[in-house]
Amino acid sequence: MTDTTGFTVIAHRGASSYAPENTFAAFDLALEMGASHLELDVHLTADDEIVVIHDDTVDRTTDGTGTVSSHTIAALRALDAGSWFGDRFKGTRVPSFGEVLERYAGRAYLHVELKGRSAGLSRRTIDAIRTAGMTRDVTMTSFQKIRLEEVRSDAPELPTGWLVGDASAAITRDARAIGVTQLCPLAKALTPDLVRRLHADGFVVRAWGVGTEELMRQVVESGADGMTVNFPNVAIEYLRTRASSR
Ligand code: G3P
Ligand code: CA
Repeated sequence: MTDTTGFTVIAHRGASSYAPENTFAAFDLALEMGASHLELDVHLTADDEIVVIHDDTVDRTTDGTGTVSSHTIAALRALDAGSWFGDRFKGTRVPSFGEVLERYAGRAYLHVELKGRSAGLSRRTIDAIRTAGMTRDVTMTSFQKIRLEEVRSDAPELPTGWLVGDASAAITRDARAIGVTQLCPLAKALTPDLVRRLHADGFVVRAWGVGTEELMRQVVESGADGMTVNFPNVAIEYLRTRASSR
C-alpha cells in the first residue's frame, strides 16, 4: 500500500515523536496526521497474550519494572505507559494486540514487528490477524530470520519484511530462499545503487532508523518504497511539497 506519491510513510510505533510509543495515543495521532500505515512491536506475556510494546522489559516505557514475559496481561494493563513521556499522557495503557486490531481494522495498514523470541509469538500473532480478518492489511517484520521462517511456513498469505543493517548479497540470497518479499535496511545504509539492485532482485525496499529529517529526505531520494519514521507529519509534508514541485 502506498500513498498518492508512491512512497509509504509508516508511523514508527505511531507518531512516537509526539506521543508515547506503541499506544493508542501515538497511533491515533499518526492517523490524524494523515498516515495510514502504523508500525508496532509485539511480545508475549506470562499468560501467553500478545502485547504491543517495544522493549523486553517494561522499565523504559511504563512505571513498572521487569520483563514483559514475566507479567500477566492483567499486570501489564495496570501499568502507566504514558507518564514517562509527559504528564498529559498519564494513565495511557499498554495495548493488547487484539485491541489494536479491533481499533484500527479498516482504518490502517499495520507493520507488525515480532520482537519477542518464541515460536509461540509468531503463531499467536498470525491467529489474531486471521481472526480479525486483517491478513490483507498487515506486513509481518522482524530482525529475527527464524521468526520470518515461521511466518512463511505458517501463514504464506502474509507479506514479510526482513529488518537488516545493510542488504548484502548473502542477505538477499537468504531472503529469496525464505520467500521474504520486502527488505528493510537501516536508513543510513541506503543508496540509490542499493535500492536499484534490490528492486532488480524483486524486493520492496523500505528503510528503518530514520532519526533526522536529513536522513528522511535521503531515503525518499534514494528511490526506496517507504520508511518507518517517528514524525510522519514531516514526512507527509515533504512528499506533498516534492510532488507539487515536479
Ligand atoms: O521499522 C523497524 C524498526 O521499528 C526497527 O527498529 O528498534 O524501532 O524496533 P526498532
Ligand atoms: Ca519496531
